[in-house]
Amino acid sequence: SRAVGILISGRGSNMTALVEAMQRAPGPAHPALVLSNRPGAGGLETAARLGVPTAVVDHRAFPDRERFDAAVNSRLAEAGVELVACAGFMRIMTPVLTGAWAGRMLNIHPSLLPLFPGLDTHARALAAGVAIHGCTVHEVTQELDAGPILGQAAVPVRPGDTEASLAARVLEQEHRLYPRVLAAFAADPAAARAGRVALFAAGSA
Ligand code: GAR
Repeated sequence: SRAVGILISGRGSNMTALVEAMQRAPGPAHPALVLSNRPGAGGLETAARLGVPTAVVDHRAFPDRERFDAAVNSRLAEAGVELVACAGFMRIMTPVLTGAWAGRMLNIHPSLLPLFPGLDTHARALAAGVAIHGCTVHEVTQELDAGPILGQAAVPVRPGDTEASLAARVLEQEHRLYPRVLAAFAADPAAARAGRVALFAAGSA
């Protein structure tokens, strides 16, 4: 079973979904560390309650991105991490981090990439008038939100949707998608790359 390190910055609902799925039944991956760049991230308490070791690497303590990334690498290595899952980790990463974990780092993004990379994805989807929105799990490369896609989940955009209602509909699918993709990738990266997961929210027809 591969040791997974989960990077968070906030409430950590995706981290929770990943940890709970890995703990439910022993499989190809197990949670080894939850690391936050923010000391006040709510997800740290949740991880501790779930019995997962936690770490804080506060980005404000470092003079540049490279030295922050090197410190994150050290903590991941100390914990024996073999696979990294970014889950609401809101930092731009340099090649110090992305290079060290090339082919071994996943991210979840709240849009159907390559649409809407970056921030404010739900507001931008509403403004664009798309009828279908969703989330993507992809491999992390140096280009932001642009690595190989491993799985996507689609949801309808409904009349009267707000940023909040759309975000909630997508988040529910993030929690279904990410554990499935992580398990598949931990078991067999090449097979996961070839057999991308496609989920469609119930009632979306
Ligand atoms: C999630 O919706 C995730 O997809 C998004 O932040 C949220 C974190 O929520 N990630 C990004 O926007 C990455 N740029 P969570 O802390 O409850 O998992």
